[in-house]
Amino acid sequence: TKHLLGIKNLTKEDIEIILSTASNFKDVLQRPVKKVPSLRDVTIVNLFYENSTRTRMSFELAEKRLSADTLNFAASSSSAAKGETLLDTVNNILSMKVDMVVMRHSASGAPHFLAKHIPAAIVNAGDGINEHPTQALLDAFSMQEKFGSLQGLKVAIIGDIMHSRVALSNIYLLKKMGAEIVVAGPPTLIPKYISEALNVRVEYNVKNALQWCDVANVLRIQLERQNQPLFSSLREYNLAYGVSQKLLDSLDKQITIMHPGPINRGVELDSDVADGNNSIILNQVENGVAVRMAVLYLLSNNGN
Ligand code: CP
Repeated sequence: TKHLLGIKNLTKEDIEIILSTASNFKDVLQRPVKKVPSLRDVTIVNLFYENSTRTRMSFELAEKRLSADTLNFAASSSSAAKGETLLDTVNNILSMKVDMVVMRHSASGAPHFLAKHIPAAIVNAGDGINEHPTQALLDAFSMQEKFGSLQGLKVAIIGDIMHSRVALSNIYLLKKMGAEIVVAGPPTLIPKYISEALNVRVEYNVKNALQWCDVANVLRIQLERQNQPLFSSLREYNLAYGVSQKLLDSLDKQITIMHPGPINRGVELDSDVADGNNSIILNQVENGVAVRMAVLYLLSNNGN
């Protein structure tokens, strides 16, 4: 069985195939009739153990556009809340003749564990602080759409790197595709392995990173994953590391602004920047549907 567990084990060619398939599906999504019959006999469960707006709705819409049957599972309203294990839950769902599992879980490695125990294809929709592969793919698609190529593109990833599966998946993907990366933010939110194991340049001065880059991918401060505060206050974070229009106006160039969402407005990103002319944040969300259609199509038997 083929899975999409992360970007880490994909090749450059794998990524190129996904992005070009997504481009075809984006063309389909511009038509009056957006639905194709590709996954007509496929049933997919969206298994969400963590909250989501964009990823869950984007997968569901991608499945519907591909004519798959979809089931939605939210842990908080399920028997997981009564103590049922992940494996029991999935085996029960699969016994109803479900073919593919899209899953989000707070535990890093949860989809990798599941892949060892079930026969169905698994798509990782975010596992703890590990990876969020479809987010990195839709980010790549959006950058490629705007700049033509990722080769040599200068990308700054700014903010809460430590808790971000978006950062890790983006780093793996951008390195494979030949982009240049700088990671920026407070020292307490940038783990040592970013520079030491992943060999990514770290910059503690956000203005320097912005001045260098073509595109800034600004990440959400993930307060829900911090046991103790890693900076003094949200106000001080915004002043020292937030991306404001004033800061952007002080650069001698225009840069493109991305954010995976949800945005903490006025913390890592000010509203006038998020909603400004250089923001492609809603393009990212639009592209997510085509990218997820591509992933589901390529993992299904019909995409072989
Ligand atoms: N970008 C992203 O994963 O958003 P959600 O948490 O709303 O799915």
